[in-house]
Amino acid sequence: MSNKTIVVVGASRGIGKALVEIFASNSENRVIALSRDLEKMEDIFNGYSNVITFPFDLLHNVLSEAKTIFEGIENIDILINNAGKLVNKPFPEITHRDLMECYQVNVIGVMETVQAAVPKMNHGGHIVNISSMGGFQGSVKFAGLSAYSTSKAALCSFTELFAEEYKESNIKMNCLCLGAAQTEMLEEAFPGYQAPISAEKMAEFIANFALTGDQWFNGKIIPVSLSTP
Ligand SMILES: NC(=O)c1ccc[n+]([C@@H]2O[C@H](COP(=O)([O-])OP(=O)(O)OC[C@H]3O[C@@H](n4cnc5c(N)ncnc54)[C@H](OP(=O)(O)O)[C@@H]3O)[C@@H](O)[C@H]2O)c1
Repeated sequence: MSNKTIVVVGASRGIGKALVEIFASNSENRVIALSRDLEKMEDIFNGYSNVITFPFDLLHNVLSEAKTIFEGIENIDILINNAGKLVNKPFPEITHRDLMECYQVNVIGVMETVQAAVPKMNHGGHIVNISSMGGFQGSVKFAGLSAYSTSKAALCSFTELFAEEYKESNIKMNCLCLGAAQTEMLEEAFPGYQAPISAEKMAEFIANFALTGDQWFNGKIIPVSLSTP
């Protein structure tokens, strides 16, 4: 459970920030925290000597930027693709740019980050993709989220395809479809809505799953939600 090198993408706020804090609270872990806002990450993770922060933007040059960051890391044990871009607009108002950015951050950027990380997982590793209940087949859907939720569904699909392609390796990939957790993104998606759990509580589950779930799961799309159905 200890001595892990863990990469968290989307680490500057919300669930990603809470994940970094959980992993870093074990001083034997080394946590690589990535987001666009380096200054903010340096500020919030200031007290942790085992957190290394890098600026990283899933919109631009993802493969080469990720390769450069991972170059200096001997081995990655866990990669959590937690960053997400929300577009919340009625369908006719969604622009080409909204679609491109949503799919770039939530799907293409994740796939390229994984391409860069895989060579650093020679001893095996667990990649956890953070999707949404909106991208989980058969779940309740919400108006305004067609760009966001379809991109999260694509992330689910990627998980199954990657796991198939790497099934002979020791690298496992799973996808967690989150229900509502109280974060700034949720407030943007559903203003005024009170989520049943905090970002920290959701991060607690994700961290435990990332550390142990690869013993039981591979290529699985798992709903993590208190809502029904
Ligand atoms: N909160 C919920 O209820 C909920 C429900 C279902 C699914 N999810 C999913 O859970 C994940 C975390 O959600 P959250 O609510 O904690 O979101 P959040 O508060 O909006 O945080 C998102 C994180 O992603 C980073 N990010 C955004 N765009 C990026 C980009 N282009 N490149 C690199 N990093 C980027 C942000 O950092 P910078 O701005 O510094 O780059 C931030 O650290 C997301 O994938 C979200 O879709 C959340």
